[in-house]
Amino acid sequence: MNSVKACIFDLDGVIVDTAVYHYKAWKRLANQMGFDFTEEQNEKLKGVSRTRSLELILQWGSVTKTDAEKEELATQKNTWYVDMISHMKPDEILPGAKEFVQTCRDAGIKTALGSASKNSMMILEKIGMVNLFDAIIDGNKVSKAKPDPEVFLKGAEEVGIAPANCVVFEDAIAGIEAAIAGGMKSVGIGSPEVLGEANLVVSGLNEMSLEKLQAL
Ligand code: BG6
Ligand code: MG
Repeated sequence: MNSVKACIFDLDGVIVDTAVYHYKAWKRLANQMGFDFTEEQNEKLKGVSRTRSLELILQWGSVTKTDAEKEELATQKNTWYVDMISHMKPDEILPGAKEFVQTCRDAGIKTALGSASKNSMMILEKIGMVNLFDAIIDGNKVSKAKPDPEVFLKGAEEVGIAPANCVVFEDAIAGIEAAIAGGMKSVGIGSPEVLGEANLVVSGLNEMSLEKLQAL
């Protein structure tokens, strides 16, 4: 089999582990509003957009805010988050991630980024990986959040490969569902209990190889 012609990678949790920065910024915001925010709750926000994440946090804290206040809160969280990610270095790339993206490119497979984050470009610049993607689709380019397949379909379109020949790499269940909805194969990064719907689950891109990719 040689049907894989493009690989589409999620960013947070696949290429870099930014969950801890999101956690610190959301926790600071929650604490400022007078309630706590746990790591378990943060887990539930993986792959979830900034706006939706704030909605959930306000719900968990039983707090009601106007749309204008929500806008302000989301901006405040993002300012703290950007402050932290602006210090990111290439050594924060998850094990094997850069190598596997390069392996795909060397094999003539197109590579794309498909992330919900509006800060994707900044992170890619900080870790020196901008030039490793033929297409970069981030939160600024999509109107529908995962599990809607829009982000991955746009990536496939931009690299000129049919969805059936694309493989998505994702750490969030909503991302695996988006891949399935888009008619793509998927590899889950994390635990098989959570990501069982994927065609293959590995603990990180350091476990991937061209052989495993072509066997999907
Ligand atoms: C996803 C993260 O990649 O991006 C979520 O998993 C995050 O936790 C979302 O909320 C949006 O990110 P940003 O950088 O636009 O706030
Ligand atoms: Mg992710």
